[in-house]
Amino acid sequence: MKESISYRFTNAQVKYYFNAKFSALQQLAGKDRTVLITDENIYQQHKAKFRGWNTIVLKPGEEYKVQATVDTIIDQLIAFQADRQFTLVGVGGGVITDLTGYVASVYMRGISFGFVPTTLLAMVDASIGGKNGIDVGPYKNMVGVIRQPAFLLFDFSFLATLPDAEWSNGFAEIIKHACIKDAVAFRLLEKSNLAKMKKDKKTLFALIERNARLKSGIVQRDEFEKADRKLLNFGHTLGHALETQYTLSHGQAVSIGMTYACHFSEGLLGFKGTERVVQVLEQYGLPTHASFKTEKVFQVLKMDKKRVSQEMNYVMLEKLGKAVILSVPLNVLEKWINDFQL
Ligand SMILES: NC(=O)c1ccc[n+]([C@@H]2O[C@H](COP(=O)([O-])OP(=O)(O)OC[C@H]3O[C@@H](n4cnc5c(N)ncnc54)[C@H](O)[C@@H]3O)[C@@H](O)[C@H]2O)c1
Repeated sequence: MKESISYRFTNAQVKYYFNAKFSALQQLAGKDRTVLITDENIYQQHKAKFRGWNTIVLKPGEEYKVQATVDTIIDQLIAFQADRQFTLVGVGGGVITDLTGYVASVYMRGISFGFVPTTLLAMVDASIGGKNGIDVGPYKNMVGVIRQPAFLLFDFSFLATLPDAEWSNGFAEIIKHACIKDAVAFRLLEKSNLAKMKKDKKTLFALIERNARLKSGIVQRDEFEKADRKLLNFGHTLGHALETQYTLSHGQAVSIGMTYACHFSEGLLGFKGTERVVQVLEQYGLPTHASFKTEKVFQVLKMDKKRVSQEMNYVMLEKLGKAVILSVPLNVLEKWINDFQL
């Protein structure tokens, strides 16, 4: 199998295999010393791929990205008699990759791991960058580590079974990348829409690779989130708070978060692209408006990891393709959120 590219991070080199076949995984991790971690949905729909591999099959969903699941996985690894020479491979969406990377980082003080991302979101975002962790109560990703996988294998055939809602979730992050860093991709997205993009495999696969590379580049330049990597939180501060308080998917919540951030950017930085961002989000099946209780959402928002004392570092847009971070006092932020709802 031909390696597409590798990225050197502070403590590790990550090999990327784009447009690869799942069966090639054997060349990266021997079946006798590897445990795959996946969820029931993926396992049921791609059973043949897992034949002959030690596999842990988890229940699907964000509610299982918690410590209790970590304990279950560790019990099963012990049952497999997994030692420090073992590799864990997360075959799944972001829930599975986050869990796998976390378990691999703590099991026997750290064993090797790799990812086969199976959702669009995991391909362009969650599997990249080495952030691994779990949720605690309403607080997303409250506990975790930054540790890089050894490899990422992209088998686009997994996308054939991806539910519609998950396509939109993935496009929320693709649109986010375009807004903060890639004006060319933004124009490409504007010219198409979800249905067309799903059919046009060549453009889609190229777009996935472009986004995976874009995120990798940002992480490579700022692995520990001191500067540019923070821009990837565009739409996520409000998004995360909404996601934990209401029945919204990650992509839907981030989409609403991006719309609000665009409005704030208009007021603060004279940003002129809000209409275009809203239009693109809608073209990819994403919501751009929600009514919610500011107070309820703000309770969670205040605990965001981007808060520094009484100020929140908020990602805003100067123009399409260029984001900046502004420190906003919490009381001002709460007032804005409230005002935009009226
Ligand atoms: N570590 C990071 O840098 C990072 C970045 C972004 C998001 N995340 C995390 O990622 C998670 C969201 O990821 P996600 O949207 O991929 O969620 P997910 O893992 O829950 O997958 C979404 C759904 O799609 C199903 N699924 C996955 N692949 C499938 C396939 N090929 N065919 C059919 N069904 C399939 C899953 O069973 C699940 O029901 C969140 O927990 C978020 O915090 C992490």
